[in-house]
Amino acid sequence: MQAWNIRRNIDCLLALRDQLGPVYGSEDLCMLFYSMVRREQPRVVVELGTGFGATTAWIATALKELGEGRIYTFDNGSHFQDASVKTFLAQLHGPLLELAQLSQTGAYEACMAWIFEHADVADRVHLVKGEIEFQPRAVEAVAQGEKIDLLFSDFNHAPKTIIQLLGAYLAHMNTTSSIYIDSASTYLPSYWMLDNLVRMLNAKRIPAALRQGLDGDQRTALDELVDTCSFQLVHLVEKAPRSQNSTAWLRIAPDDLFPAHATHVRT
Ligand SMILES: C[S@@+](CC[C@H](N)C(=O)[O-])C[C@H]1O[C@@H](n2cnc3c(N)ncnc32)[C@H](O)[C@@H]1O
Repeated sequence: MQAWNIRRNIDCLLALRDQLGPVYGSEDLCMLFYSMVRREQPRVVVELGTGFGATTAWIATALKELGEGRIYTFDNGSHFQDASVKTFLAQLHGPLLELAQLSQTGAYEACMAWIFEHADVADRVHLVKGEIEFQPRAVEAVAQGEKIDLLFSDFNHAPKTIIQLLGAYLAHMNTTSSIYIDSASTYLPSYWMLDNLVRMLNAKRIPAALRQGLDGDQRTALDELVDTCSFQLVHLVEKAPRSQNSTAWLRIAPDDLFPAHATHVRT
């Protein structure tokens, strides 16, 4: 029997990319994540801000092809409530025609369930409808005790939120992992703040702001991560005159002579 692969749901995925992707500038990013997930094989992926699930579905497809891994995705459904969003969704067509109808009367969760079922990835996606929280206990529950391999934050890119995000999540990241923060590279205060922050982390200095609110175990986990890992900041910037045109990629990797993720290195 042929293993499950993207051919099974490509029409739905392309419709999600083409019709819903441009709303949040994720039509190319979702495919970049698909490729990165296939290459790096994360087991635990967390997305903060599901939107219409375009990126979620592409990541989940890669996880399903790999045969393991799960994406935990969070959204309070606030954008979905906007009248203009309902008008936009009513125009969906082709493979998304049924969704156009459902979106006019159905709840956010029902629409997302429709998307993940029709993309045939519902078994890889865990959607939580609710506020994104940074309290230690809430973050601890996100991946149900497992370390996170890929974190995609796509709901707020202000410096204050990024500091809260990194303070809360760094202690839960795997020693080889990635954090992507959408739009942060082309919002100057966040761009500068991230640059400074990464310089401090690489000097093995943890800003006090990152430690605020952490409990003893989390402080220890954060100390260990910073002590044993390096942080690389890459600004993925799009040549597009729109507001959501960048993603800051923070790569975490152990201090080592060997490249992170490599299972085979010629010496
Ligand atoms: C930019 S969209 C996400 C796009 C999606 N990741 C993609 O790639 O297509 C941001 C989403 O975050 C949600 N959101 C904004 N603030 C939130 C909060 N405080 N808690 C939970 N969800 C929030 C909005 O409802 C919206 O759907």
